[in-house]
Amino acid sequence: MSVIVPPGGFLEPPAIPQPNIYPIEWRVDTQKLQDIYERGKTQVWNPSDFPWDSLRADAWSPEERVGIMYWWGLLANFDASGPAVFARAMIHSFEMHEEDPLRKCFFSITRDEVNHEECCQRVIQRLVPGGPLDFTPTTDLERAAVNNLGWLYHNGGRYWNGYSTSLGKYPLAVLFTSFMMGEMASSTLFRGMASGTRHAVFRDIFTRIGRDESRHLQICLTMLETSWPGLTDEYKSLITKQLRAGFVFLSMVLWEPPNQFWDLPDYFLANHRVLIDYARQGRLGVLQYDEQADNWRVALARVRSIVERWGIDFPAIPELDLDGVDVGEISPEDIVPVF
Ligand SMILES: [Fe+2]
Ligand SMILES: [Fe+2]
Repeated sequence: MSVIVPPGGFLEPPAIPQPNIYPIEWRVDTQKLQDIYERGKTQVWNPSDFPWDSLRADAWSPEERVGIMYWWGLLANFDASGPAVFARAMIHSFEMHEEDPLRKCFFSITRDEVNHEECCQRVIQRLVPGGPLDFTPTTDLERAAVNNLGWLYHNGGRYWNGYSTSLGKYPLAVLFTSFMMGEMASSTLFRGMASGTRHAVFRDIFTRIGRDESRHLQICLTMLETSWPGLTDEYKSLITKQLRAGFVFLSMVLWEPPNQFWDLPDYFLANHRVLIDYARQGRLGVLQYDEQADNWRVALARVRSIVERWGIDFPAIPELDLDGVDVGEISPEDIVPVF
């Protein structure tokens, strides 16, 4: 058996128009990313393994139950966007021929986020079957919860098209700064809740998710170390604005939303406070308002010290007494939805 070698030599296949997932290659530039990806494989966990039967709806008063369901529905505005957000980023990284471990890290974040979403889904189904939106509310508190969640999802829906078309517009370092801030926020949130909750299933969930989020943060920091140095001033100011947008967006779950970007009816915040207080009363693990503010301030200070190393200005966050650059109004296009 022998192969054919044409007399004039082999024909070169045509160049493949880019961006394109072809040609196939597995380049490794950053060994550390590869190591983190390996860790993601060994730290994998299965939400089905939690003792869901021990999460009994009748362990809480009807009000606490709705408050806890509301919080998980609120979390879903962030964590349930994770699978689609990172799946899209993963496809983008294939099209841009980013190094192999980076593409795989996006895949593993997507995998993790599907688990996080599943936890939101399962908790809500245990407590309020059909929730967050598809059940028939019978009390004013339930009606308020469903209405607030509808408004939250309306706001979630406002950034999606912007995000999904923006991927090709900026270098990955810009995107990764927003991702980094989201992961800093989420790892902070879940660490606080794991220590605050009084239910074993919630503690298991928060601990597992928190560990995933810390790994995601490591991925972002590793990526940024290599991609930050080449950023232009124009991109640096875009990042400053996106950091403020991240604060505005993420404060909804870490603390309370500032009066910017969010399109909400005037009663939203008052009802939100009542519902979150019932979740606190049910000992879900939501920190008190001042503790949340302290936690958030510490996390933001970490973000600030990281970006300032690369000469990127931090935005002013007067809500938490953090000074910085005024970046003006925030629009849905400035929001990079991550968690
Ligand atoms: Fe997540
Ligand atoms: Fe994450």
